[in-house]
Amino acid sequence: MELITLHTKNTTYQVGVNENGFLLHLYYGPRTEGDMSNLLTYFFRCGHGNPYDRGTDRTFSCDFAPQEYSCYGSGDYRNHAFRVRSADGTAGADLRYKSHSFTDGKYSLPGLPASYGDAKTCEIVLADPRLNLEVVLKYGIFFEEDIITRSVEVRNNGTDALYLNKVMSASFDFVTGQYDMIHFYGRHFNEMNFERTFVGHEAIAIGSRRGVSGHQHNPFAILCDRDAGEDYGSCYGMSLMFSGNYVIQAEQDQYSQTRFQAGISDEMLDYQLLSGEKFYAPEVIMTYSAEGLGKLSRNYHRFIRNNVCRGKYKLQRRPILVNNWEATYFSFTGDKLLEIADEAADLGIEMFVLDDGWFGNRGIVNPGEASFGDDRGLGDWFVNEEKMGGPIKNIVDKVNAKGLKFGLWIEPEMVNEDSNLYRIHPDWALQIPGKQPVLGRSQLVLDFTRDEVVQNIFDQITAVVDTANIEYIKMDMNRSICEAYSAAAGHQNFGEITYKYVLGVYKFLDMLIERYPDMLIEGCSSGGARYDAGMMYYTPQIWTSDNSDAIERLNIQCSASYGYPVSVVGSHVSAVPNHQNHRITDIDTRGVVAMSGNFGYELDLTKLSREEKDKIKEQIVRFKADWDIIHNGDYYRVTPGGENREYVAWNMVSADKKQALLNLVTTNTHGNPLAIYGKLKGLQSDAMYRCVETGALFSGTELMHIGMPMATTQEEFDKLTEYVAFQRHFVVQE
Ligand code: GLA
Repeated sequence: MELITLHTKNTTYQVGVNENGFLLHLYYGPRTEGDMSNLLTYFFRCGHGNPYDRGTDRTFSCDFAPQEYSCYGSGDYRNHAFRVRSADGTAGADLRYKSHSFTDGKYSLPGLPASYGDAKTCEIVLADPRLNLEVVLKYGIFFEEDIITRSVEVRNNGTDALYLNKVMSASFDFVTGQYDMIHFYGRHFNEMNFERTFVGHEAIAIGSRRGVSGHQHNPFAILCDRDAGEDYGSCYGMSLMFSGNYVIQAEQDQYSQTRFQAGISDEMLDYQLLSGEKFYAPEVIMTYSAEGLGKLSRNYHRFIRNNVCRGKYKLQRRPILVNNWEATYFSFTGDKLLEIADEAADLGIEMFVLDDGWFGNRGIVNPGEASFGDDRGLGDWFVNEEKMGGPIKNIVDKVNAKGLKFGLWIEPEMVNEDSNLYRIHPDWALQIPGKQPVLGRSQLVLDFTRDEVVQNIFDQITAVVDTANIEYIKMDMNRSICEAYSAAAGHQNFGEITYKYVLGVYKFLDMLIERYPDMLIEGCSSGGARYDAGMMYYTPQIWTSDNSDAIERLNIQCSASYGYPVSVVGSHVSAVPNHQNHRITDIDTRGVVAMSGNFGYELDLTKLSREEKDKIKEQIVRFKADWDIIHNGDYYRVTPGGENREYVAWNMVSADKKQALLNLVTTNTHGNPLAIYGKLKGLQSDAMYRCVETGALFSGTELMHIGMPMATTQEEFDKLTEYVAFQRHFVVQE
């Protein structure tokens, strides 16, 4: 059997081409050598489809042989990876191996985000001569990072159109083993809940049909051994670099073999591929860890930070910001903004961000009208000078003069019916003629499959940004797509339009980055509805959730850490009682939680007490001092996700293991409480670490095996109630 083997430092991936040209998945796991076709079995089995060219041989069927890119029409009745229909309506292809090649460098994907860096590319060409179809499986091999990426290019080399009904980005089969799938479900204000599900003999599928990757399921999943934990066991990750409709699924087949796959959603997909055209499936970032979930996460952290995120700020400390959304919502004047900026300058905050409500008639409510004003204005990206008290430059200059940078919120993909843009171009909104559209926050989605729409919005927004020194953009997206009908398209269906829509969003972002290469762009979609590796290619930080409560953020940020680095998390200290769940927490606790991300504030700074302001000043000094270890250190979950606990803890360790930072927040309270011992992970066992706060000396082993008591004074013990935060710094005593 011809073998194609991909090695990274600690992992090996192998496929083989059998005598009939079928591409079989042989191995993915710890680094090893050899020919893993010895794992294949050939038994006479009834009840399966056998390839014609095997004659009467019933020992081989695509229905039970492990497939690398299973295709409908091959006799594989499991969840296949690829399905195509011809112009005559027949479905089914016969994909066989044609060639393969290795090249230096990493492939890129036209119009789609793709990781980059020091890598090799392997391309395997599968072909169906009857359909004049080629399917190219692409693999990016990142040796040091233990990452393998996958993507697919489909080529129509014939004269007739082909219709793609399913094109997974990655799929492979395990011949044996029992697995759990870990995934993260949620909703607005409550993203990223950890769920671990046994993969039995039915498909477990997560995904989105909303046009965005969604709050409901993050496009990232882990398949792991049933007994795998934070620090032990085999785990495989798939992280999809796509911000629209998708599916990630796992199933056991009739022989208890497991298939794991990820890609764009095939639901309502009928993508027309004309003669000579190519289709690209988004990239999937895969990694394998033999040392549990913690190691798998750290592989993703490094990779997304270094090989996915881009731009000036990818490895830099981002400005500590104050955002006016939870401070004022729509009710502000230019003077009010400047009052907040004044305080911000005083406290050491580095950037002022003007959120929603600065443009068109957005947020302007007529007397007696029952409205928040969030039902108007989107699409009209001109400054409301009456509300702002003049052109935006006036405010930006004043903010700059206080020593702060200035940032601006936009939601380019949206339009309200109550807007000039909609009145002139109703056909620019995605809606089905004759059907009343479904509204989301009273808005419609603009048809970003159309270049002229993207260009118009881009021109409007850049006309504002160009007038002033704007150094940050928060790009929001606050409703899902329902009516995917483009007034301009010829052939179209839901799947094709929603795919092309996401390409339009990426195009808009590319244009923005090209125009403003040093601009810091923060992603946002009602909080975390587009918290995916695709967006991270354009926006190195993303507002993780509209829920800013420190205690709920413990869960959200812990779950995010399974697949994404701290350097992407957007996290702010907000007011109490918290606006989303009314909980009251101490400003110290809010500070500790928000510091495990891109730190900022989201409250009316003019309404704080002297004591709170002093605390904020301290937090800013501390965050700046700790930034390097927080963002670039190795991240360890001390308490894993998905558990009810007395406290949540996590720690960071510098690359040389000479410094560590432990964060611990209590989530329960008791009479006569226990002394809580905070453990750390990832230290050097034989080194001695001094706790900066208490001066006590511990061996690495002691800290990792038992931990240190969190409360060390009677005063701290007396305050040991719920929602108390501890931050402890450790340095190696040479
Ligand atoms: C979304 C965002 C918030 C805020 C509002 C403004 O909900 O997630 O942070 O920007 O929109 O309308």
